[in-house]
Amino acid sequence: MTNHSLDAGRTRALLDALVETTVALCSLSTRLSLTALLDRLGAFTRQMLGAEASAVMLLDPGSHYLYWETSSGGESTVRGLTLPVGQGIAGTVALTGEPCIVTDAAHDPRVAHNIDATTGFVTRSILCVPIRVRNTILGVIEALNKQSGPFTAGDQEILELIAAQAGIAIDNTRLYESLDERVRQRTEELAAANARLEQTLQNLRDTQTQLSQAEKMAALGSLVAGIAHEINTPLGAIGSNTDVFNRALRKLEATLGTPEAKNASAPLMAMLAELNENNREACQRVSGIVKNLRAFVRLDEGEWKFADLHEGIESTLTLTAHLARGRIDVVREYGELPQVECRPGPINQVVMNLLVNAFQAIEGRGTVWIRTRSDGDLVRLEVEDSGPGIMPEHLSKVFEAGFTTKRAGVGTGLGLAISQRIVEEHAGRLTIESEPGRGARFAVELPVRRRG
Ligand SMILES: Nc1ncnc2c1ncn2[C@@H]1O[C@H](COP(=O)(O)OP(=O)(O)OP(=O)(O)O)[C@@H](O)[C@H]1O
Ligand SMILES: [Mg+2]
Repeated sequence: MTNHSLDAGRTRALLDALVETTVALCSLSTRLSLTALLDRLGAFTRQMLGAEASAVMLLDPGSHYLYWETSSGGESTVRGLTLPVGQGIAGTVALTGEPCIVTDAAHDPRVAHNIDATTGFVTRSILCVPIRVRNTILGVIEALNKQSGPFTAGDQEILELIAAQAGIAIDNTRLYESLDERVRQRTEELAAANARLEQTLQNLRDTQTQLSQAEKMAALGSLVAGIAHEINTPLGAIGSNTDVFNRALRKLEATLGTPEAKNASAPLMAMLAELNENNREACQRVSGIVKNLRAFVRLDEGEWKFADLHEGIESTLTLTAHLARGRIDVVREYGELPQVECRPGPINQVVMNLLVNAFQAIEGRGTVWIRTRSDGDLVRLEVEDSGPGIMPEHLSKVFEAGFTTKRAGVGTGLGLAISQRIVEEHAGRLTIESEPGRGARFAVELPVRRRG
């Protein structure tokens, strides 16, 4: 029987294989499944044509050479081998697009014998057809060493059918791959654009926070300056009145003639004197608070200057005393500090926030330690409290603007975010150490001299 016309059995097998590969083609999406499919087509080629070996060779992107995509049947490995287009049988088929049958490979000058010399395979006969898709040659498919005589025109027809299937498979995979690549590129571009947007958004948020804080401080500053002025005038009047009152009381006492009258009015006089003394002390306290308020806001001290940090801490303590009074011991462990070049207003704001946080963290009785020390060209200020500490999962968040665990109306979650910004603006560091149940320790490190 010849292969010129297919007998019923072979036709059936060929059709079955075509249906099978067509089904496989539909689910083809990766290079791995392409190799598996081409292997299957190779095995089928050998079986249908009674060939010893088969191979699928593809053209490189520049169409300069062929490389082996799969091969089967030969003992040797062809991985990594290439064949220039135009050379040997496969190279010629890839160039011309014409199928080729070689019946006596050993004596055929068109055969590239060097491949056999490299692989150790002995090629006796070859059937080679091009793999085409839409008139473009993608590579070739080869059947080698037909066991029962020479390859025929019928074998060629079968191999061309198989080559058509292989062509669609290769084409599909490449389409998927380029699609994948485009999707990957697009995803990367989108991710980059997204990152840029997030950065812009973050910058905007930061700017907004800074602006609103600056506005708040400016508004608070002028409010405080106004109130301080308003309070100072009547306070001055009350203060000098207590002196007048005191003198008047002494004179009144002197005018009382009889010892009886003196005795009778003595308790009244003592009470008036005591009330007057109370008033005088109250005046002094109010005037101290006003002085501290002005020192704290110090709009005039937005400028860089050398300042005494202890002074700032003390005035901040006076302002926050009502939060600690009667329940929190404030322990000062001050070291020797040089004058620090800073913007005193904002630095006081940092101290204020750390102290308020510490006082607010302690429920009931507790202790707050304020430590200072100088360390080379740095100064270090620590505020530690005996409160409940900070949960580990909150540690990285406390510096985020808007993060608060306090109820509405108590915290805005801006204090630490702003403090950190201020400290960074001073080329310093604001750090935190805390374990739940063991309090929290915030440390501010500032360079003694302005940097940058
Ligand atoms: N000493 C501390 N002990 C325990 N938790 C603290 C301490 N200091 C800060 N925190 C936690 O960090 C959060 C953020 O603090 P931050 O000062 O930024 O905002 P806030 O105090 O909540 O509000 P604001 O300062 O705007 O009034 C607090 O809500 C609290 O959960
Ligand atoms: Mg706070």
